[in-house]
Order: sequence, then C-alpha cells, then structure tokens
Amino acid sequence: MRIFLDTANIDQIRQAAKLGVISGVTTNPSLVSKEGTTDYEATIKEICSITSGPISTEVLVEGVEPMIEQARQISTWAPNIVIKIPATTEGLEVTSALAKEGIKVNFTLCFSLNQAILGALAGATYVSPFVGRLDDAGHNGMELVRDIVDVFTHYQLSTQVIAASLRHPQHCVAAAKAGAHIATIPYSVLMQMLRHPLTDIGVARFLSDWQRKKE
Ligand code: G3P
Repeated sequence: MRIFLDTANIDQIRQAAKLGVISGVTTNPSLVSKEGTTDYEATIKEICSITSGPISTEVLVEGVEPMIEQARQISTWAPNIVIKIPATTEGLEVTSALAKEGIKVNFTLCFSLNQAILGALAGATYVSPFVGRLDDAGHNGMELVRDIVDVFTHYQLSTQVIAASLRHPQHCVAAAKAGAHIATIPYSVLMQMLRHPLTDIGVARFLSDWQRKKE
C-alpha cells in the first residue's frame, strides 16, 4: 500500500516528503480554503513542485462542460496533476471525456460499490471511497474499500483504490488489510502511525545504559 498525504498545507507536505514515504498528495477545496489562501492555482502549483507523485485537485464548478473546461485548464498546471471529479451523473460523463483525452481522474466522494464500478468503467485512474464519512453515517467504510478492491481484482480493472477520509491509525491498518492501493491520510495520522511509546522508552534506555557503562 502506498501513502498519500491528504492536505493542502505546504509545511506538512514538505515535512512529510523528507520522510521519504509519501508518494502523492490529495487535496479538496475545503482543505485548500483551510490554509487561508485565495489563490487556488498558486497553492496547487506549489504542492506539485514539492513531490513528483500524483497530486489530486478538485474542480470548482458544476455542469459537464464547465467541469471539462476547468479540468483541461487545471491539467496544464503541472505534469503530475490528477483531477478530482465527483461521483455524480455529470461527473461520470466528465470522467469518461477526460479519460479519453488522457487526463487522469480521481473519481471522488465515492460512497458505494456501484459508484466505484462506474468510475472504473468510465476510465478513472483512481476511485476514492470516503471511509470516515461512511463511518460517521453509521456504515462500515472499510467494508466498502474491501468490496471495491475485490471486485476490481476479480474483473481485472486497473483503476486504483484510494482509501480516503481516514481519521486515525487503525484506519491505515484496516486499509492495508483491505488491499487498498493507497491510503490518503492527514499529517497527524502519518505521525501517529510511527509513534510508539515503547520505541521512545527503548531509545532512552539504550542511551542511558551506555552512558552508565562509560562512567
Ligand atoms: O480524502 C478526502 C478527505 O479529505 C475527506 O476527509 O475527514 O473531511 O471526511 P474528511
């Protein structure tokens, strides 16, 4: 399983990139607006310059033609751009048109296996089931990830599954066990994945034992 960072925070992306375990970034309009910027394009371009991995960026308009037009425009911002298109009827038509033009699509806001199948058939490079939001609504988000992976594997669909809306380290473990190709996570969850008190205690004890031996 690969890991993407789910943020538009430049400092966090730079910091995570240094760790060498991040292979891409996913953003959405809410995440970009949280950073207090009004320049969407400049923010996304800066993110694209930090890592060469795929950077998912959502369209900011509705309607088939406006979405296609904006997606074409955004796709010129950097070679590693992936366009996030919502899993709606219009979004499906847009996904299909963009895929034919060779523009990579992340079929997002995906809450059912049927939406994922249609996204894959339309040619999406990625589908993003939103695990945390399904859990919030009383469903089992990770079960959906598992189902999508199973069906895509069975029918040899090349679309990759991004387990999204992940909120805690157990989500990462479950996403890996479910066979998600990618887990996209906030920076805080990336840190939580690594943290273990026994590691910290062990490091401190090794150093103090060696120190005592020298005295
Ligand atoms: O990757 C999708 C993510 O940004 C949504 O997360 O926590 O707002 O449901 P959340």
